[in-house]
Amino acid sequence: MISKQEFIARQHRLLALCEPESVVVIPAASLITRSRDTEYPFRQNSDFWYLTGFDEPDTVLLLSNHSQFSDPYRAMAFRPKDKTAEIWQGRRLGADAGLSEFALDEAFELSELEDVLSEWLGGHDHVYFPFQSPLRETLFALHNKLAAAPKENISPAALCDVTPLIHEMRLFKSSCEIALMQAAGKISAQGHIRAMKFAHPGCYEYQLEAELHHEFAMSGARHPAYGTIVGSGDNACILHYTENNAQVCDGDLILIDAGAEYAGYAGDITRTFPVNGKFSAPQRRIYQLVLDAQLAVLDRIGPGMTLNEAGLIAAEVLTAGLVELGLLKGTVAENLEGLHYRQFFMHGIGHYLGLDVHDVGDYRQDGEDRPLQPGMVITIEPGLYIAPDADVPEAYRGIGVRIEDNLVITATGADVITADVPKEISEIEALMRKS
Ligand code: GLY
Ligand code: MN
Ligand code: MN
Repeated sequence: MISKQEFIARQHRLLALCEPESVVVIPAASLITRSRDTEYPFRQNSDFWYLTGFDEPDTVLLLSNHSQFSDPYRAMAFRPKDKTAEIWQGRRLGADAGLSEFALDEAFELSELEDVLSEWLGGHDHVYFPFQSPLRETLFALHNKLAAAPKENISPAALCDVTPLIHEMRLFKSSCEIALMQAAGKISAQGHIRAMKFAHPGCYEYQLEAELHHEFAMSGARHPAYGTIVGSGDNACILHYTENNAQVCDGDLILIDAGAEYAGYAGDITRTFPVNGKFSAPQRRIYQLVLDAQLAVLDRIGPGMTLNEAGLIAAEVLTAGLVELGLLKGTVAENLEGLHYRQFFMHGIGHYLGLDVHDVGDYRQDGEDRPLQPGMVITIEPGLYIAPDADVPEAYRGIGVRIEDNLVITATGADVITADVPKEISEIEALMRKS
């Protein structure tokens, strides 16, 4: 787990990125109604979690680097203690316990937030907060009120978006974060192995989903990091298919894209395998092509390469293979030039991974693609999706394959942290034979 010191150090680093005489205001997430008086399972706002490690809704973090303080000044607004709410809904830390729990300079109740913000807005030159947040209206209104009636020549603080600063920090994972992501990768891999072992003709996609989620939960990852995708047969060609309600027919491939969320961090693995344990000849050709494309990228990826360059490596392998199989007509060069592979591989090669599955951080800087750097965590996930009505030899229609792994970029290359689940054809067939 991340230590209290690491969370506090992140708060200090964020403040150091702000102008002098600034206050930073970061709200937590709120509960969201699922139906009538029941709520969706609570998921903390990733930026708030990154800075505090606190899992209660409706809390607000305030930080100040005002020159009147020798150190950063740290405060939090908490939900009030409430006996009835705690009997019915759950424990609340409250301001008194929160003060020492988070080693704060000040802790207060949410009902006092507007007064505190009003005071701080008048006393600082800048207020940083996420512009896309429920506090937006409150802060803009307070700002306008102060601007309309300035007190003792105090003008209101300028409003600044804090989001890009936090997201740049989150892009580079600490060693503790990498350890948690390795755990998320391992748990996710075990879920995939369990689903592969369970699969048999006649099973239902939702049963495979249940196998994955069971394995995740048994390892302390109570929630998947995103909606689990279990697509059998043609369903594998729908990139974000989550209906997961079809019965799997003998001869089908199954594409599973699923990852556990562990201590807030996402795993994001895709594997594709034959429900009956044996790839048919056309399935084998398409699968091996996607695997070759992925391995070509994994072989060369590392610091200095951009994700677009990685995508190009995959595109070259896929295009050459598609031409050889007769799914693309013409030369490899013509097809690459015309981006013809895009009718079968229509998504990006990968993305940043972290507290969010499509994690934050800029992919471009100063108008250029951004090179990968040590400490970034990414996915590499080539695929081929041949629509059931594609103008290709019939044997290939309706085949969808994606192979996705998670990687930590290191000083010299990249470590694959999801390698526990097999992806070579012989390994998959052997695993399924055993079960
Ligand atoms: N699971 C969504 C993705 O792979 O990007
Ligand atoms: Mn995925
Ligand atoms: Mn992904």
